[in-house]
Amino acid sequence: MELKNDLILRAARGESIERYPVWLMRQAGRILPEYRAVRAKLSGFKELVETPQFSAEVTVQPVDLLGVDAAIIFSDILVVPEAMGLEYQMLEAKGPWFEKTIRSEEGLRFAETNFDIEDRLGYVLEAIKLANKELDGRVPLIGFAGAPWTIFCYMVEGHGSKTFSESRKLLYTNPTLAHELLSRITDVTIQYMKAQVKAGAHMLQLFDSWAGILGTEQYAEFGLKYVDKIANALTEVPLTIFSKGAILSIPAIAKLNCATVGLDWNMDSVAIRKEIGDSRTLQGNLDPCALYSSHKEVENLTRKMLDSFTSKRHIVNLGHGVYPDIDPEKVKTFIKTVKNYELHHE
Ligand code: CP3
Repeated sequence: MELKNDLILRAARGESIERYPVWLMRQAGRILPEYRAVRAKLSGFKELVETPQFSAEVTVQPVDLLGVDAAIIFSDILVVPEAMGLEYQMLEAKGPWFEKTIRSEEGLRFAETNFDIEDRLGYVLEAIKLANKELDGRVPLIGFAGAPWTIFCYMVEGHGSKTFSESRKLLYTNPTLAHELLSRITDVTIQYMKAQVKAGAHMLQLFDSWAGILGTEQYAEFGLKYVDKIANALTEVPLTIFSKGAILSIPAIAKLNCATVGLDWNMDSVAIRKEIGDSRTLQGNLDPCALYSSHKEVENLTRKMLDSFTSKRHIVNLGHGVYPDIDPEKVKTFIKTVKNYELHHE
């Protein structure tokens, strides 16, 4: 299907753009009353994720209601560990919970690789097809997965954590097991993301949400090694690598086979641009909390960020997912400011 707005794809490839594209991580979600209304009719988060018709519906909502330049398929990074054999629950106000965890070779039986993606994750592929039908080419659709290190954290820990110390412990006490599990996650993620592209995803993003809890050397060995494999296997559509918190690894990430590097709000996009040059697109990175300020201030802060860019290779976003209690009107101000901003450099 022909895309009517392919700004984000052109920006990712470093082609000419007439203005910066803009979308928000976690745009399909709790900030929208319309999302909460769909969610309230269902038994819970998982039913929403697993029912293609509903998932497609909330995927399209931010395009209709906020005017973003891309949709992201409504799902979760945790569908991959579940497909591999670790079922998760999403506990109200608590977050993800896995009954079983992997902390020894024994546990590897819950890390299957030999299954058919269509069989266990067909509901995501179906949602992608339905969402594209409803989008009718208005904007591109982004597919995504968690990066192996971040998925590893949930498979080992079994739930969220500030330190993920069980996961980091394993890197010291049983690196062989850690590498085996990371390899398995990598294999499945490659197959899964390829299937997303086949189903209609125009772009892909890898979320490495817990990259920043590792030292730079450990992140190279247990994180980027596997992200590199994924990037090399997925060359059909532009790929964004978002390694939250991994400031010192950004130059290494920019050397991987990706179109776009995601930045969180702690990262200095001007310094990073200087360091990596124009060979990659940068995505981000307004502090999500900036959207708690007044409309005028949201506009000022957004403009200030845009003014700092020295290259047009940018996809505008926040530095992490939008927080659930942000006023959608503030999000609209952010988006409007980006859309009205005139590009002053080639
Ligand atoms: O970006 C989007 O709009 C698409 C949907 C999306 C969700 N999760 C839906 C969701 C995406 C891209 C994710 C990615 C995700 N999931 C990440 C990586 C991005 C990041 O934030 O760093 C992580 C670490 C997860 C795991 C996860 N899912 C956690 C820790 C939680 C609980 C905390 C929370 O935000 O509530 C979730 C739940 C979740 N995933 C919700 C949504 C909309 C909220 C659940 C609800 O509606 O009840």
